[in-house]
Amino acid sequence: MASTVSTAAPSGQTAMNFTRGKSLRQRAHAIIPGGCHTYAKGDDQFPQLAPSFIVRGKGCRVRDLDGNEYIEYGMGLRAVTLGHAYQAVIEAAARQLQWGSNFNRPAPIEVECAERFLELVPTAEMVKFCKDGSHALDGAVRLARAYTGRDYVAICGDHPFFSTSDWFIGTTPMPGGIPQWTRSRTIRFHYNDRDSVVKLLEQYPNQIACVVLEPARLEEPRDEFLSWLRDTCHRHGALMVLDEMITGFRWHRSGAQHVYGVVPDLSAFGKAMANGFALSALAGRREVMRLGGLDHDRERVFLLSTTHGAETHALAAGIATMETYRDQDVIEHLYRQGERLRAGVSAAARAAGVERQVECLGRPCCLLYTTRNQEGKPSQEFRALFLQELIKRGVLAPSFVVSFAHTDRDIDLTIEAVSEALIVYRRALEDGVGRFLVGPPVKPVFRPYV
Ligand SMILES: Cc1ncc(COP(=O)(O)O)c(C=O)c1O
Repeated sequence: MASTVSTAAPSGQTAMNFTRGKSLRQRAHAIIPGGCHTYAKGDDQFPQLAPSFIVRGKGCRVRDLDGNEYIEYGMGLRAVTLGHAYQAVIEAAARQLQWGSNFNRPAPIEVECAERFLELVPTAEMVKFCKDGSHALDGAVRLARAYTGRDYVAICGDHPFFSTSDWFIGTTPMPGGIPQWTRSRTIRFHYNDRDSVVKLLEQYPNQIACVVLEPARLEEPRDEFLSWLRDTCHRHGALMVLDEMITGFRWHRSGAQHVYGVVPDLSAFGKAMANGFALSALAGRREVMRLGGLDHDRERVFLLSTTHGAETHALAAGIATMETYRDQDVIEHLYRQGERLRAGVSAAARAAGVERQVECLGRPCCLLYTTRNQEGKPSQEFRALFLQELIKRGVLAPSFVVSFAHTDRDIDLTIEAVSEALIVYRRALEDGVGRFLVGPPVKPVFRPYV
């Protein structure tokens, strides 16, 4: 069971064995395109000397197929905020599973979970659940198009990801298989750039159904940008959709919309909602959301209706997770540990003389890091090297996104690992990264060719 993952110092700098992982990787690539089911977990995202498969996790510790252990960051693509196998959540899900997970009519827990969600996110009046963030955002876009009778969707071009569906993927460097009409209906504005928004609204008068953006990413909103954007959209008959997939239950237990004091027309939550169980939500104003319901005389909108949309155990996990946010200082913990980590990484970078290269970015509850080269430019080779050197020292950190399970000791051990890894980084800046990096650099997910 997961509880067998230790809480001791990770294995330290030893020559790690990845033999079993490597062999399973070959089998995986023979039958699964890309070797796994999520691009962000793929082989091209990690250095050659990395675990290929994780078999179990407890808290912030995970174990790979070869028995190596790591302190993990950004767990489950930021879905696991409380820690792996968090007891209250798995107990709630397991209890519910005993009663069955899917019936011909809704289960009462669908109502309970909706009430719990709306208590935590009072800026919304109605909510509908589904399984993925993409699906929730697709629902938002369809609703906005139906509500406004318009086709165009304006996305924030500075935010990297909104959905796996055509309306978004068609705008990326990987638009294969997506018709031109669909691609052309999604247009871009820039964050904090009022002129870019006004320009679009003038260029496409009465044609933009909604704007879609994260409330914030690395850059905070300036001069009330979010409220201005919402009011401007409304003046032009468009809706504002906030993607709270990352910020929700992380910036604040009521979402970033609470932090910035903005009430969007629609917003989408997922990831942190159920501590790794598949659950997401589209929430928003009753007047818009009700088009997906049965109590209006407008044209109906097919809104988020799937076979597995309300699996009872995922809803139970969601309730237990949201109750934990409500009753414990989860968010405060994320900020505190992130701040300690940021301070430690900065000090280590200064000590190694790589402070221009390796820098923590973002809110402490959601830290990313840079890996720049000698010229100060982002470098995938140096990213691979840094990942490799951290992995050798028992830290698996595609980001420095902490969870409720990261203790002071975990952060201290991580800072030690970072300090040592950055000495190698420094030498690689001087002698060439190729002397230290084993295998090819990592690559961006969105690229047109392999
Ligand atoms: C900001 C943002 N929006 C939407 C999504 C899509 O969520 P999902 O992968 O659950 O479909 C992601 C996923 O990483 C995301 O980071």
